[in-house]
Amino acid sequence: MTYKLEGRTAIVTGAGSGIGLATTKRFLEEGAQVVAADLDISAIAELDGTVTAVEVDLRTDGAERMTEAALDMSGQIDAMVCCAGVAPTREGLASTLDEDVKNTFDVNVLGIMRCARAVTPHMVSKGKGSIVAIASDFGRMPEPLFYDYCMSKAAVLSFMKSLSIEFGPQGIRANCVSPGATRTPIWEKPGGFIDLLAKLYGGMDRDKVVDHFAKEHKKFALQRIGEPEEIAEVAVFLSSDRASFVTGSDYWVNGGSIPVY
Ligand SMILES: NC(=O)c1ccc[n+]([C@@H]2O[C@H](COP(=O)([O-])OP(=O)(O)OC[C@H]3O[C@@H](n4cnc5c(N)ncnc54)[C@H](O)[C@@H]3O)[C@@H](O)[C@H]2O)c1
Repeated sequence: MTYKLEGRTAIVTGAGSGIGLATTKRFLEEGAQVVAADLDISAIAELDGTVTAVEVDLRTDGAERMTEAALDMSGQIDAMVCCAGVAPTREGLASTLDEDVKNTFDVNVLGIMRCARAVTPHMVSKGKGSIVAIASDFGRMPEPLFYDYCMSKAAVLSFMKSLSIEFGPQGIRANCVSPGATRTPIWEKPGGFIDLLAKLYGGMDRDKVVDHFAKEHKKFALQRIGEPEEIAEVAVFLSSDRASFVTGSDYWVNGGSIPVY
């Protein structure tokens, strides 16, 4: 164990898939007890360790329900990692409709605000806590194929900074992890990013798409996309006492997808 999280309670949203599922597993490996919240909790049943799955919709009362589940579990909330998110694609401004944008913000931005509102009183009463939000490279790299997704992630970066300023004096740290392209169901599922890129690359084979994207199209420094475990590692580090002086930060975990000059 690296982060010494025995006796700690963590909430993970979006825990049913991809980065959230990897984060839940990593917390469990470190001995933490986890409330794993998602719209779809079927994958959580297979995990080993002290984990309570809670089926939630963060657009409604999910934040309150998962908070209650954590308090029922241990009476405390030490860390929360917000991974739940949607990443819809658009075909430019004309197809980026108000109702769709509102849904993206409802999950990606308000979803995190609601979670923070629900857990902070309990962290404040302990004088300690960590909140990590999974943002994205796209928070600083606008792209018309993802108009509202990019806007929502920029909002997450801003929100988490404000959170760190308001709650820092009360012992709560608030940080972002901004992944670059990461191999999760967002990529793999039918109609996901691999299919989208295959079309963009003139009908390229699905198994060549990711390589082409990373090496030839985007020219990422590490020449590949990430794995969910690589994002989870940083999220769990930030949730631990090993990151005790880190707040208001944004960790880029992107294999060099944004060149820094
Ligand atoms: N995969 C990538 O390339 C990538 C890159 C940058 C950032 N991200 C971000 O990482 C986070 C996790 O993405 P992922 O790739 O693991 O995707 P994923 O689709 O595998 O997981 C997202 C999870 O969020 C859940 N969710 C969606 N709406 C919800 C709601 N209203 N209430 C509760 N749960 C809800 C889904 O059910 C799903 O299990 C997202 O915020 C995403 O924007 C992903």
